[in-house]
Amino acid sequence: MDEKAIIRIGDRQFECPTIVGSEHEKAIDVRQLRGETGYITYDDGYGNTGSCQSAITYIDGDEGILRHRGYPIQELAEHSDFVESAYLIIYGELPTEDELRRFRARISGNANLHEGMLRILDHFPDDSHPMAILSVMLNAIGCHYSEMASNNREQDLDHFDWASTLLLAKVRTIAALTYRMKEGKPWMYSKPSFRYCQNFLHMMFSEPYQDFMPREEVIDALDLILLLHADHEQNCSTSTVRMIASSGANLFASVVGGVSALWGPLHGGANMEVVKMLQQIHDDGDDGSRFIAAAKDGKQRLMGFGHRVYKNFDPRSRLLRSRADKLFAKLEAPDPLLDIAKHLEDAALKDDYFIERKLYPNVDFYSGIILRAIGIPLEMFTVIFAIGRMPGWIAHWRELASHPKQKIHRPRQIYTGATERRYVPLEKR
Ligand code: CMC
Repeated sequence: MDEKAIIRIGDRQFECPTIVGSEHEKAIDVRQLRGETGYITYDDGYGNTGSCQSAITYIDGDEGILRHRGYPIQELAEHSDFVESAYLIIYGELPTEDELRRFRARISGNANLHEGMLRILDHFPDDSHPMAILSVMLNAIGCHYSEMASNNREQDLDHFDWASTLLLAKVRTIAALTYRMKEGKPWMYSKPSFRYCQNFLHMMFSEPYQDFMPREEVIDALDLILLLHADHEQNCSTSTVRMIASSGANLFASVVGGVSALWGPLHGGANMEVVKMLQQIHDDGDDGSRFIAAAKDGKQRLMGFGHRVYKNFDPRSRLLRSRADKLFAKLEAPDPLLDIAKHLEDAALKDDYFIERKLYPNVDFYSGIILRAIGIPLEMFTVIFAIGRMPGWIAHWRELASHPKQKIHRPRQIYTGATERRYVPLEKR
């Protein structure tokens, strides 16, 4: 594109080139700005900063559009499943039948953990948070397959297919065994003939003397949740993964950073907070207006509402709301929290505060209610998000690592601390 952005500083003028993405997203290329003018750009929270060029996921937050590799999320939710979508997100194309069969087989064949990892898992205190355990255990995979975690870019890329398979396969096992460790239950080994989510539920809930046989609707609902979380371009955890990867760090080390970033309540931890909030409304016998009022007063946020990018409905939230309706109709075990959530959504969407700020329900608003129905304990909700986001983290690591001229990520800052001063000896302070 020939358009140039002109930056005028005093009587000086600087021309910045512009960049246009494949969906006509426009950016001002400021890479030469500091060198030419001495100025940097300041963008606290990166709301206006493009940190990379990426071909994985497209979001139009004003229109509520989400596409992976060009495919609308609604089509993937209807026709695909988590494992196939993971392949698409990681490798860029829908797999052929043979590619998909081999991909599934690799994942099922690698689900179990090295016995050494089971010993590590056994030594965590019972009250450890599952996200803390997950981050340790993912790095431990790299310790057990050190040739795949070499921090030698070429070598790590050569092992990429296997390293990514190990992560997709074992993240679910780590999650299930974490739950069993905390419950004081024996490990359940995976069953390679089971599909991805069925196997996860088996490792979570089967007993040595009795297989857990979930209903198809339950397996499908979990699959949908994972699929809807599979990638979301440059969110906090994915940007963290890319940041770490930019230093040359291996895939395992990089996704561990993603887990830590995801843990926070403003990001993946929000799904837990939503259910706590709905439970509180239920226990208080309130209709939710107290939470809405507190959110408007700035005392607390309405969890599961608002998004940095979506200023319209988050399409994932719509898909989850309708799936929650279908699931509860089948289960014949209604959850009062679903009605509370719907009521809260309707009330917030009529309220000027939320309308003016374009705050809509996000992916976390209904996912927790479905997870409860599946029997997943609250503490594990963010871990489920991490299982779902794994394909995205892997795809972004690969995209960055494969870039021939990738630079280390190193933002600048505006320093606001003390100016130069002399050291004061201890006895004079
Ligand atoms: N409840 C009440 N007010 C809100 C909320 C909310 N959930 N979200 C934003 N606002 C207000 C905020 O107070 C501010 O008001 P004002 O202009 O008067 O100061 C305005 O809306 C803009 O907020 P912001 O903090 O500048 O928006 P952001 O883009 O930095 O934050 C967010 C995005 C997702 C962190 C935020 O909306 C939030 O904290 N939501 C609740 C937590 C949540 O549900 N997180 C999950 C996000 S989606 C999945 C994921 O990424 O993990």
